Amino acid sequence: MKAGITCCDPRGNVMSNLQASGTTTTPNVAVGPAGRALAQPMDPALLDALQQHLTMERRASAFYFANALWFGERELRGFSKFFHGESQSESTHAASFADYLVARGQTVQLEEIGAPRQSWESFEEVMAASFLLEADVTASLQQLYSLAERSSDTRTTVFLDPIMEGQIQSEHEFAHLLGRVRFAGEQAAALLILDAELAEGNNNPYYLGERFSNG
Ligand SMILES: [Fe+2]
Repeated sequence: MKAGITCCDPRGNVMSNLQASGTTTTPNVAVGPAGRALAQPMDPALLDALQQHLTMERRASAFYFANALWFGERELRGFSKFFHGESQSESTHAASFADYLVARGQTVQLEEIGAPRQSWESFEEVMAASFLLEADVTASLQQLYSLAERSSDTRTTVFLDPIMEGQIQSEHEFAHLLGRVRFAGEQAAALLILDAELAEGNNNPYYLGERFSNG
């Protein structure tokens, strides 16, 4: 702010700390559980849901890592590569939620995630379980979004916006892959064609519009 410009803070009390008043009082700064400065307290139900969502992302990462191994053991390297990438992106999502909680002055609670399932009867079964997991993650994000709106926590809705968009795209991709695996059935030749596509990084449906890339 330029010297001489009068502050315009609607609350009228915070900005007054920035003006010479002849006193040396230190402004009061609220802190979170880790002792970091806290700009806006977080609704306890929202905080709990964010912590649980972080755990869900870590579980998803472990689940997809197990799937990468399962397909690798069956010589389907494209599927294995695809799930390895998915595992890494879920881990990145978990890290983003951790970063956000720290930025909001909160302490991240890491919970037990347990061993993921590693035994499947068919390729379709793995893909169906993966699609349902994506749908669960979306439902959890929707719940976070409504909790944030209910407590007027705009910081959180802004944080969630791009995550929600990416998640909807993920669901779309998993529905597409499940459809193609169903189409292939248990025919080795068809599954090898899908595997070759995934090895090339072709896992998205065809997009008619410009919003998402077909590359
Ligand atoms: Fe995720």
